[in-house]
Amino acid sequence: MFRSKMISRIAAASLAVGLLAGTVTAASAAGDTVHPPRQSWSWSGPFGTFDRAQLQRGYKIYKEVCSSCHSMNLVAFRNLADKGGPEFSEGQVKELASTFKVTDGPNDKGEMFERPGRPSDHFPSPFPNPEAAKASLGGTPPDLSLIAKARGYERGVLLSLVDLVTQYQEQGPDYITALLSGYSDPPKGITVGDGLAYNKYFPGGQLSMQPPLNPGQVDYTDGTPTTVEQYAKDVTAFLMWAAEPKMEERKRVGAWFMLLMLILGISAYFTKKKIWSNVAH
Ligand code: HEC
Repeated sequence: MFRSKMISRIAAASLAVGLLAGTVTAASAAGDTVHPPRQSWSWSGPFGTFDRAQLQRGYKIYKEVCSSCHSMNLVAFRNLADKGGPEFSEGQVKELASTFKVTDGPNDKGEMFERPGRPSDHFPSPFPNPEAAKASLGGTPPDLSLIAKARGYERGVLLSLVDLVTQYQEQGPDYITALLSGYSDPPKGITVGDGLAYNKYFPGGQLSMQPPLNPGQVDYTDGTPTTVEQYAKDVTAFLMWAAEPKMEERKRVGAWFMLLMLILGISAYFTKKKIWSNVAH
């Protein structure tokens, strides 16, 4: 009696899981955006760290390409010298900050004025306000400080469970890389709106950012290939650092904590064995 009840419960549960899986697959098949391909990143996994050279190249892409439209309000130039980031020297930071124009003021005449950036300034927006940006670009370029953590894509219930186990946390960076290198002609039958560009990774497929990267556009001095894919990966790594500048520290502390727990666990086991060894049971 009890047994057959158990069996029917198990049957019902597996049916529910089957239905759930069915709905999830159907839903993702119906979606019109494509899942970004999974990249390998130096910082993934519990012990991952950033690749300094990649962060420095990524900064270069941000500076020479993206900063003409996008700000990074939460990041100060001096952070570029912090441990766990691109680790530019203080001198380099001073120099690179001075290549940005920062609005300051008001002066004693009550007017705002522009001056070269200082290490304590934050990455400015090239536009006085979002409306001005929209008027000239047809869309508002979002601040990029947190974008690597703010964007992701829907992976469905089942894949999310798998991600929990495999520790897959790079949906944001994978999306940004795919977006930057994923522009193409639209498929037959789709007309692209005025001032928009087709990109299969962007939800809805059309966005007001024209393809920002072209092969050979930015010089690399370390022999890294100057392809759009490489640029996209490097600037994504830089944006990931910007979104979580203390990531390396967090992972390091986490790893030490796990080790400590392991040692405590083992010693608790042997202590228990020793204490109870003379007690008859
Ligand atoms: C000529 C201006 C311009 C340049 C240069 C530019 N962008 Fe954009 N970007 C935009 C605009 C405008 C949008 C808003 C698009 C929209 O929502 O239709 C945008 C949106 C984005 C988004 C958000 C996409 C989303 O899912 O909402 C990301 C990420 C992004 N840009 C990254 C970059 C990076 C990285 C670079 C440098 C390689 C760059 N952009 C260069 C104008 C620009």
